[in-house]
Amino acid sequence: METLGIDLGTRSYSIYVGQGLLQTLSSYLASRDTWVLITDDIVDRLYGERLIGEWKDSTMYRIVLPAGEDTKTLTRVEETIESMLNLGVTRSSGIIALGGGVVGDVAGFCASIYMRGIAYAQVPTTLLAQVDSSVGGKTAVNMPQGKNAVGSFYQPEVVVIDTTTLRTLPHRQLISGLAEVMKYGVIADYEFLTYLQEHLGAILALEDQVLERIVTRCCGIKAEIVAADEREAGLRRVLNYGHTVAHALEAVTKYGTYTHGEAVLIGMYLEAEMARKLGLLGHDDCSEILDLIQRLGSEVELEFKLEHSLLSNMVFMMGKDKKNRDGKIAFVLPIGAGQTREVLLTNKEAQSLLECL
Ligand code: NAD
Ligand code: GLY
Repeated sequence: METLGIDLGTRSYSIYVGQGLLQTLSSYLASRDTWVLITDDIVDRLYGERLIGEWKDSTMYRIVLPAGEDTKTLTRVEETIESMLNLGVTRSSGIIALGGGVVGDVAGFCASIYMRGIAYAQVPTTLLAQVDSSVGGKTAVNMPQGKNAVGSFYQPEVVVIDTTTLRTLPHRQLISGLAEVMKYGVIADYEFLTYLQEHLGAILALEDQVLERIVTRCCGIKAEIVAADEREAGLRRVLNYGHTVAHALEAVTKYGTYTHGEAVLIGMYLEAEMARKLGLLGHDDCSEILDLIQRLGSEVELEFKLEHSLLSNMVFMMGKDKKNRDGKIAFVLPIGAGQTREVLLTNKEAQSLLECL
């Protein structure tokens, strides 16, 4: 098992990464009279029911949400909060968010507003959640006007990652998580990108050691970035590589066509091409990035060329992105060797650039 720390002063916490940690989950949690397990129906069947059945340490309530992105709504948050009030959850109770990024984002948001904030533990079960959403304290729900439009920065008190849960993950979700994994290589660690290229077979075969290694490396990079810039005033923006395009794509397709990771793959593809076109990214670096994106995309038959009408709608949506500044759309573009640059473009500039890729 690996133990990482995220240094945030009084809000610092540990991230435990290892195999089989779910079986001894209580040993990583603070002692509380009451826990509320928030999970989704798929994860509940796979892991939640057993966890509840074997839980002996204290009272554990359970709230099961429908699986999928549609659960990230204010209505679902209100229902969850109502259930917690009806169960008698108090300020000294804690929430366990067991599941993917959807559960983590909704449960984390509920934790941040319930009785003005209660403790929660992130116990992520998708690769995407293990390498990204469970670490760093961003919580959110979607609105028709935009992805993650309402939420909070609210850190968990611990993150417990059992990489063996990835064994039951559908292949599509594994690829989705690998999109965020490779993002870390592009933005922060080119050696890691090479490692991913060389070990893709072992990763897709779910080899335990390799999975543990990549999850640990990604959490390490994210922990460093978040510790330096918790509320995304500067450095943390690097994590948005691929995401300006991805969030717009998800919103205009009503969160129903692409998984988040697939949208990120397309976003990273188009944003790397934009960087090349703007003369920020060399041909060889661009090819290296696009090659891995395409290898991952081919696993789920992902199409990278988007229709003009879709691109137009996306640019309109990007124009309202919460990351925008000075009335311009903010893109984090790769410039090679694990580095990025933020580029601000008007809607018109973004539109013409994207259309000629
Ligand atoms: P998800 O939570 O919808 O999970 C994907 C699917 O996998 C679901 O059907 C789920 O039931 C199932 N599943 C989960 N664990 C499983 C397991 N071990 N075995 C089998 N099935 C399993 O999606 P996700 O990709 O985990 O997360 C995407 C969400 O995370 C998006 O809403 C995105 O905006 C958000 N996100 C948040 C942050 C953040 O910093 N807060 C960062 C990145 C992404
Ligand atoms: N997933 C982007 C962030 O946590 O900042």
